[in-house]
Amino acid sequence: MTAVAIGALLYEGKAKRVHATDQPDLVAVEYKDDATAFNALKKAQLTGKGALNCRISALLFEHLERCGIPTHYLGVRDSLWMMVRPVRVIPVEVVVRNIAAGSLCRQLPIAAGSRLQPALIDLYYKDDALGDPLLSEARLERLQLVSPEQLASIRALALQVNAVLGELFAGVGLELVDFKIELGFTTTGDLVVADEISPDSCRLWDRAISDSQERILDKDRFRQDLGGVVEAYGEVLKRVQGVCPEPRVYG
Ligand code: TMP
Ligand code: ASP
Repeated sequence: MTAVAIGALLYEGKAKRVHATDQPDLVAVEYKDDATAFNALKKAQLTGKGALNCRISALLFEHLERCGIPTHYLGVRDSLWMMVRPVRVIPVEVVVRNIAAGSLCRQLPIAAGSRLQPALIDLYYKDDALGDPLLSEARLERLQLVSPEQLASIRALALQVNAVLGELFAGVGLELVDFKIELGFTTTGDLVVADEISPDSCRLWDRAISDSQERILDKDRFRQDLGGVVEAYGEVLKRVQGVCPEPRVYG
């Protein structure tokens, strides 16, 4: 395979940069060490976070792919780069919740830590300036972002991702409390999971620890000033790579 040349910056987000490449239908995503929370009110540089999230995301995307769930992922290059198919990302953050935590418990009288069965799906309009507001079905319909059929496919895909990742994490002693995914359409119109799946976008608890702070192995360590953020992400990587093959190298 000829080496892929990284091209112009197409988009810079809070945790990643997206670049064009010299090949059609291929973009390169660079994972940054920047950490943000509360719509970027809180910021830090966490050395090593980008590489950890890149690798964890690669392993999880490849696992989803093996389980028949389509994603934008093609492979990794070096420690910070992920090669992906270009996708028109739907500006909706799809959150799946298995255990009540975070904003759900701040907004509703639901006890933190209670199991949500069936899993709860919350949709948010992805717009930093508006603070990513929670969507109702009527609001989603009004925005005409997706058709009712596409919404049904999005929900089904999110639940499939939940089942597959929940099982993978349970197998390595981790509880998938909740997570956020973004979906999009490829140039051929296929709906795929895009963006990243990492401890930045998931809540993961160590199942062997009952202490409500010590068990946290995700970005809540940063949000709540608990320290040990990169070490926690490293622990997630260690466990996941213990049961997944090496991520494939692309270009
Ligand atoms: P929440 O409890 O703050 O609504 O978060 C639910 C899940 O979504 C949690 O796993 C963290 C993830 N998430 C993101 O990935 N990006 C975001 O901007 C927010 C607010 C949450
Ligand atoms: N990713 C969001 C932000 O930077 C919020 C969060 O993950 O808490 O602000």
